Amino acid sequence: MAEQKNTLFDRPGGYAMPSGAAAAHREVANSSRTIVLPGDAEESHVPSGEIDPPRFSANDPDTRVYVGDCREVLAAMPDRGQVDLVFADPPFNWDVPYDGWKDNMSRAQYERFTYDWLDGCIDVLSPTGSLWVNIPDDTAAEVVMHLKRRGLTMINWCIWHFRFGQCRHSSFIMSKVHVLYFAKDPDARTWNPDEILEQSDRASIYNDARTMAKDTNKGMRVPMDVWYGPYLGRIQGNNKERRHGHHNQIPEAYLERVIRSCSNPGDLVVDPFLGSGTTSTVARALDRRSIGIEFSETNATSAWERISEIGMVRSGTTGSSSAIHAARGSGKRTKATT
Ligand SMILES: C[S@@+](CC[C@H](N)C(=O)[O-])C[C@H]1O[C@@H](n2cnc3c(N)ncnc32)[C@H](O)[C@@H]1O
Repeated sequence: MAEQKNTLFDRPGGYAMPSGAAAAHREVANSSRTIVLPGDAEESHVPSGEIDPPRFSANDPDTRVYVGDCREVLAAMPDRGQVDLVFADPPFNWDVPYDGWKDNMSRAQYERFTYDWLDGCIDVLSPTGSLWVNIPDDTAAEVVMHLKRRGLTMINWCIWHFRFGQCRHSSFIMSKVHVLYFAKDPDARTWNPDEILEQSDRASIYNDARTMAKDTNKGMRVPMDVWYGPYLGRIQGNNKERRHGHHNQIPEAYLERVIRSCSNPGDLVVDPFLGSGTTSTVARALDRRSIGIEFSETNATSAWERISEIGMVRSGTTGSSSAIHAARGSGKRTKATT
């Protein structure tokens, strides 16, 4: 018998996720079956239950920054169960000289730390909330497994691709970080595809008349799950977004894509590892409420200056093309490849 073409493109994960996988994640979460990971043998952090009030705050929209360990703050903040979107870009345990935070735990301790803060994020999320994690190769698998065994559903496993990885001879140059998008309830999550459309390759390269003949979103598409292109490179050198003294600053265009697609104006966005303040800066510009948590007092102070005084410096970038080829000249092609 001829193979049937799969037409269920709109389920979470698209081609990548067999339709039974989401049900299997939920079954594991609700059953007595246990998935054991190496960091499980380590003792879990027990929060004290007490936190200081936010160190910085502003209204319209409500914006707060707490200074402290996110495992403590997430466990005691008053908004538990009401958060619409969490974006987390944790320390990678790569021995980065963060101000005050030791980025060189044993592997087992780092895994335990990771599961503890992930649990804290899951607990603050509303039943319709989404969780995004920015994480490199060496810990992506553990994050995915932990979120699955906690019953969250993977919607996308995106890749943030950048061109300025550190040069090396011993292996291929690292040029990506994983951008994991999970939801508590895939059917009830907030998802605004029309807010993040970009120009399609059909329009920008192939001048394909079919895309301009569509009834809606002519020449536009939801971005692909590999993210790169203008304003999505690493923040370094004299980039106008750059905040000196911060490590691993994420581009505003990246956070704009996450926040626009997975929250609405007035919603509450949390970043447990605020760093230079990118998440709250973009959230505030897009009229979302936000809570940032940062271990370092110095980083939090710098982040607050950015959030409250400088603001977003790259607004209006959504919608442009990420095409990697120049436009074809003739305009007569009828077959497009994407
Ligand atoms: C990778 S950076 C985040 C960068 C951020 N996404 C940005 O765009 O600037 C991680 C940040 O988390 C902070 N940090 C580390 N451990 C923490 C913890 N347990 N709780 C809260 N913040 C922590 C570090 O001080 C650092 O500023």
